[in-house]
Amino acid sequence: MNKKHEAVPNGARRSLFQMAGAGLLVSAAGGAAAQAVVDTPRVDTPGVDTPGAVAASSGPQAAAMPVDKKLAIISPAHLQEQARKVMTPGAYAFITGATGDEWTLQENRRAFNDFPIRTHRLQGMAAKDVDLSIELLGHKLAYPIMVAPMGVHLFAHPQGEVATVAGAAAAGALYQSSGASYQPLEAIAKAGTGPKWFQLYFNADVGVTRSLLERAKAAGYTAIIITADALGPGASDAFKLLGMPFPPGLTFGNHDPLQGGTGNFRHQKVALTPDDIGFVKSVSGLPVIVKGLMRGVDADAAIRAGASAIQVSNHGGRQIDGVPGAISVLPEVVKAVKGRVPVIFDSGIRRGIDVLRALSLGAQAVAVGRPVLYGLALGGPSGVQSVMEQLRDELQLAMLLAGAGSVRQLDGSFVKA
Ligand SMILES: Cc1cc2nc3c(=O)[nH]c(=O)nc-3n(C[C@H](O)[C@H](O)[C@H](O)COP(=O)(O)O)c2cc1C
Repeated sequence: MNKKHEAVPNGARRSLFQMAGAGLLVSAAGGAAAQAVVDTPRVDTPGVDTPGAVAASSGPQAAAMPVDKKLAIISPAHLQEQARKVMTPGAYAFITGATGDEWTLQENRRAFNDFPIRTHRLQGMAAKDVDLSIELLGHKLAYPIMVAPMGVHLFAHPQGEVATVAGAAAAGALYQSSGASYQPLEAIAKAGTGPKWFQLYFNADVGVTRSLLERAKAAGYTAIIITADALGPGASDAFKLLGMPFPPGLTFGNHDPLQGGTGNFRHQKVALTPDDIGFVKSVSGLPVIVKGLMRGVDADAAIRAGASAIQVSNHGGRQIDGVPGAISVLPEVVKAVKGRVPVIFDSGIRRGIDVLRALSLGAQAVAVGRPVLYGLALGGPSGVQSVMEQLRDELQLAMLLAGAGSVRQLDGSFVKA
């Protein structure tokens, strides 16, 4: 067994393996409902708690990783492959994988092909004429691409989220900060000078939820994201096969008493209802984005309950397999929203043309997941910056080539359904 794993007290390891959500977690407690996984203080997964079963290469990330360097990004596949080479197999499996047969993961990419791009010609435009800027929930953003909330950046970089948020800020991108972060939300807020939203995992202890919301507001987060689709463990088969090797020493910063936190991350409230939106709004006094919606009627219910934006997402395929690619349901959700609030899109964005298609189908902005962590693993803050700037530049070029002068100009005429 890896020595570093031995150094982690059994209880500490156990608590990590039990936590749900974040597309994170894990327990092969199996078909038993998510609730059971969240609440049950047992881990039955063979290999998880069994000394010797953790992959030998599952130590902490990044001892040998470059800390801070710009990346020359050739393609999403190349970026992923380069990241694979610097990550442990466990980290790579955790970040890259999705649930079940990973059909939804594949659909998240394939389904963009259902919307070929229709170019406008003779528009009299040069690259300098393309305006990517947007206004979103009170923020002026240089371009409509943000970082999606992801847990446990320690998998990709020893500094975790403080490195990611610094890279996002350097790239001028809004940062959605995961409630399952390794670092506490205050440290993340301090490290990133750009706009930030806090993603809440609703705690079953209402006092803990309140405290998270109050802390997020005090730290300068300007909106709260309620993740509505992470109701249970979401580990990939590949991660399970490796024995679910979480980094030794992992804590969930927002709940770590040593870092000013309270409560237990794994005691999440999974039975969310539209009323919870009003609760979060009234306690925080901030706009609420509901993330993880894939149906028009759900978006409508969320807006009626006070949501200020909807984030169409299937969690990057990490929760339930078999649901459509997220881009496939975007038109339905946009139709139901009827322009009342902004729609944000994530799951499968890899190229500028994907952003162009999502905006043409009615999203105001998109969020990106895994590629950000590949950039983090390869180049730290500057790696994250490179990933975001690459997407921005690709979007600008795609718009020039499609003949759209501004993101407001993009509409259904730019895609052929
Ligand atoms: C490693 C990892 C951890 C994630 N953790 C969270 C999380 O804590 N909260 C959340 O709302 N979504 C989480 N997600 C889902 C992302 O926010 C986003 O929906 C998804 O990654 C988008 O798909 P993409 O990776 O194809 O861009 C996570 C995704 C990954 C890859």
